[in-house]
Amino acid sequence: MLGWAAVLASAMAVSAASPWSTLPLQRKDTSRNDAPTALPDSDVFHDMFMALSDMQDAYFQRWLGTWPEGIDWTRAVVNTHVAATLRTISDELELARPAQPAECATRKEELVAGYFADVIAYYFGEDAFALRNQAYDDMLWVVLGWLESIRFVDEHGRLLSSVASARPGAETWYGSRWMPAFAHRARIFWELAAKGWDTTLCGGGMLWNPRLMPYKNAVTNQLFISASISMYLHFPGDANPSPFNASSPPARAAAEWRAHDPIFGRAAQEAHRWLAASNMTNPQGLYADGFHVSGHPAGSNNTKCDTRDEMVYTYNQGVILSGLLGLFQATGREAYLGEGHALIQNVVRATGYDLGRNTPIDDISPTRLPPWHGLGRAGILEEACDVRGTCSQDAQTFKGIWMHHFASFCAADALDATPVRYADDTEMPEAVLARVRERHAEGCRRYLPWLRRNARAAMGTRDGKGLYGMWWTAGLFEIARAQVEEEEMMKPLPPLPVEGEEGEEEEDEVVDYRNEGVPYNQRWMKLADLPKGTPPTTEAAGQGHQQQQQQQQKPLGGGGGEAKRQDKRGKEDDKDAAGAWDPNVRGRGRTVETQGGGLAVVRALWVLSRHEL
Ligand SMILES: *[C@@H]1O[C@H](CO)[C@@H](O)[C@H](O)[C@H]1NC(C)=O
Ligand SMILES: *[C@@H]1O[C@H](CO)[C@@H](O)[C@H](O)[C@H]1NC(C)=O
Ligand SMILES: *[C@@H]1O[C@H](CO)[C@@H](O)[C@H](O)[C@H]1NC(C)=O
Repeated sequence: MLGWAAVLASAMAVSAASPWSTLPLQRKDTSRNDAPTALPDSDVFHDMFMALSDMQDAYFQRWLGTWPEGIDWTRAVVNTHVAATLRTISDELELARPAQPAECATRKEELVAGYFADVIAYYFGEDAFALRNQAYDDMLWVVLGWLESIRFVDEHGRLLSSVASARPGAETWYGSRWMPAFAHRARIFWELAAKGWDTTLCGGGMLWNPRLMPYKNAVTNQLFISASISMYLHFPGDANPSPFNASSPPARAAAEWRAHDPIFGRAAQEAHRWLAASNMTNPQGLYADGFHVSGHPAGSNNTKCDTRDEMVYTYNQGVILSGLLGLFQATGREAYLGEGHALIQNVVRATGYDLGRNTPIDDISPTRLPPWHGLGRAGILEEACDVRGTCSQDAQTFKGIWMHHFASFCAADALDATPVRYADDTEMPEAVLARVRERHAEGCRRYLPWLRRNARAAMGTRDGKGLYGMWWTAGLFEIARAQVEEEEMMKPLPPLPVEGEEGEEEEDEVVDYRNEGVPYNQRWMKLADLPKGTPPTTEAAGQGHQQQQQQQQKPLGGGGGEAKRQDKRGKEDDKDAAGAWDPNVRGRGRTVETQGGGLAVVRALWVLSRHEL
């Protein structure tokens, strides 16, 4: 990838003594204050590109067109990261274009095209047939991935045709020919997922998984909001009738799937209304995982979402953010943006960070792990499983998802490309939009020091091959084995206690099913799927929630602190380059999912840092 560095150096001035290029060796966090420091942007850009290129080199198998160690849904997310990064690189080509020589632009274009070939390969490598039979959230990750690819193709195609139009006889960019394929897959999976919308229970909401007891969770509903509004804004239409034919006509003819179809916008607004009224946020203003319907269907007539799983995951605070931006673009209602900023601020606070003072809340001691704040510590985003090294393949994907949707919401150009329309379809006047844009940018700029801290931490987890680890906090602090082995740290981390509500919440519980497996009990499993004679309260470790996903790793036994190294890479020495113990080799170790997380946080920093230009 020297090629990129050289190309970049010729187009932009790269400072040689950059703090970013030497980061992996600077492991001690000495300065507590995150006052803005001048950042050589091209270095962040370079790090983003390296995260992409290392990810594809280490984990993508071109002959298979996939990341073999991923599972269907995590691959869909990784594909989303690749497409989003290509769009970001394309934007940069546009910014740099007037200033650079033609051969330099051509070389950059080749780098983009090379990774776009991976996206095309994955279109065929994706196991669409298996995904059709998985949970509703699995399907919606697929929708988001292809919509992201559509946005890249659209924007990059327009950039290239604006260059080419200067030349006579120029063709449209070849990537545009893939638009109908991507659009078709996005539409098919949106249509399949929309079957998960259910009004018989809880007055609405998406069900998580048709094969389990009814569970209406944050992620499936947030995904439905984001995917639907993104379909409304970016789907170009689809006239491909597959998999239907004349003798088995679809409920809705494919020719009816138009761009800006109101069906998508209505779905997003209705899902948002339901989620906002569902009481799914906890006293910290964070989304709990979801709701069961107590007693259903064993003899009770209850149809209310009344039993909340209090588990807090990072991704449940993220997916809705791109949806809120889209809802604003589709309605002109600024309250959607306000809701997004409030959620982001709750997340930042729950990492133990004071945005007002731009510094972590706690005094950081080098010998003790900083205290847990609900979603992190020391101002760094963290999954509850991180400290124990027991994150499942699912959880290894979560922080990257949060960063991706945060970046969509707060990118410096988030409100540039798509016009903002009011509900009556008139366009928001530019002068009004300009003021909203300024307020939004002001909000987003405030998160930059916190984001820099998180990116710096994530980059500190890179090993000698440039591969990112799962537990970002370990990249900013030198953590000794004894610190995490302390008994109290090995216990599952509960959400912060709720004051004065004891007794009322007997039904609620904290089940970390994403890491420990779905419990074998009547709350989660359908009776027919439980072994005969299972006592109602028995909780055995689940076998992973989707039988279809045979490749899915069995969840690691939680709580015991004896995470087995199941990943091949985990066998290597557990010391890092500087000879310190590396907590990121525990458990599953470094994977395509953790690499996707590293890519997403560095890309987020790049697209937000443009607010400072
Ligand atoms: C049309 O679709 C139905 C249902 O999928 C299938 O059974 C049938 O064989 C198909 N017919 C043709 C001509 O492809
Ligand atoms: C919201 O959920 C919490 C936790 O389950 C519960 O204690 C509270 O009573 C609920 N509030 C309403 C208005 O339903
Ligand atoms: C549920 O509703 C049916 C019909 O209204 C009624 O007969 C039955 O007693 C109800 N069951 C419970 C547990 O309330």
